[in-house]
Amino acid sequence: MTHERGHLQDGECCMASAIEARQLTKRFRTPVRAPGLAGAVAHLMRPRYRETVAVDAIDLGIAAGESVAYVGPNGAGKSTTLKMLTGVLVPTSGEVRVRGIVPHRRRQENARNIGVVFGQRTQLWWDLPVRESLRLLGDIYEVPGDLFARNLREFVELLDLGPLLATPARQLSLGQRMRCDLAASLLHAPAILFLDEPTIGLDVAVKARIRQFVRRANRERGVTIVLTSHDLGDIEDLCDRIVMIDRGRIVFDGPFAALRDRFGRERTLRLVLSEATPAAALGAARERARAALRDLPTLGVEQPEPHRLTVRFDATLVGAGALVARLLPVLPVHDLRIEEPSAEAIIRRLYEGTLQLEEAR
Ligand SMILES: Nc1ncnc2c1ncn2[C@@H]1O[C@H](COP(=O)(O)OP(=O)(O)OP(=O)(O)O)[C@@H](O)[C@H]1O
Ligand SMILES: [Mg+2]
Repeated sequence: MTHERGHLQDGECCMASAIEARQLTKRFRTPVRAPGLAGAVAHLMRPRYRETVAVDAIDLGIAAGESVAYVGPNGAGKSTTLKMLTGVLVPTSGEVRVRGIVPHRRRQENARNIGVVFGQRTQLWWDLPVRESLRLLGDIYEVPGDLFARNLREFVELLDLGPLLATPARQLSLGQRMRCDLAASLLHAPAILFLDEPTIGLDVAVKARIRQFVRRANRERGVTIVLTSHDLGDIEDLCDRIVMIDRGRIVFDGPFAALRDRFGRERTLRLVLSEATPAAALGAARERARAALRDLPTLGVEQPEPHRLTVRFDATLVGAGALVARLLPVLPVHDLRIEEPSAEAIIRRLYEGTLQLEEAR
């Protein structure tokens, strides 16, 4: 299958590609007006608008069967991207294909290929028993009877929906509702599942069940997963690849390990001092360590407990070997290990805004 660079033909689709976006952009124009009647009148006479670039020329390719975390701080553009992929929003510019289809132009057809779970709202009918909602969705998507029965049986078992089927959606707790929504999103056996904050507000047990279910859909049914979540457990548990977006732009795209290599230069050398060390020597340990490392570029020496000493350092500036060689002669070291930051720690720091991505490049 061939396509010209930088241009996607309509209907063109290689099945290996689930999602392709090129220079995908969404700008919102929101009216700016002063409060009160005067403001309203002034706005009528001379309307003024503020423009927000929610998604800024992103290029993204996701292959069939991948599980991708789409992460970034509040307002980064995650939901806006998902809405363009589901056809809810029309891009301002750029191109997007989901299984070869332009979502907002062929929304119905796109809907057959995708399942969508937005943690904040439900696709179930509020007043209908869950069983009826699921049946209606089966009809809407024209799911063949035997497939419907097979899927329903499996989902009822995996998500423990049995006791909920006769209950109207509005009587469900959040966790119960999310389990039903998850089943609803996969009944028509879509190739791609979009999850926007699927575990928000849920307790640990329900989270675990939902993660297990999604992981299984990905591994056993080959469903492509695109997940946005602020829950780091969701991300590490479910996704092999991470795409990080900040202020509408992709700032990182790669496997977790690469994220760690690129942003996780910091290491912590943890020393355990010998139990037999006299209290006075323990008290002086931190100062001795600092003196021994004086001319080496460390990020800090701490003594969180009398028998423990930590040295933080940038692995690209100094090796652990050099630090250890200085410390062993001056401290009664019983044991030592070197810690790398987890992907979770790195993402948390990104969310907290302490990781300057531009500088890290
Ligand atoms: N309908 C809209 N009209 C105007 N601005 C909008 C609209 N929807 C989103 N925005 C703006 O676009 C930007 C991106 O919003 P988006 O909801 O995509 O962020 P997000 O990454 O999903 O954030 P969160 O983590 O809080 O869910 C924000 O600045 C937001 O205020
Ligand atoms: Mg969002």
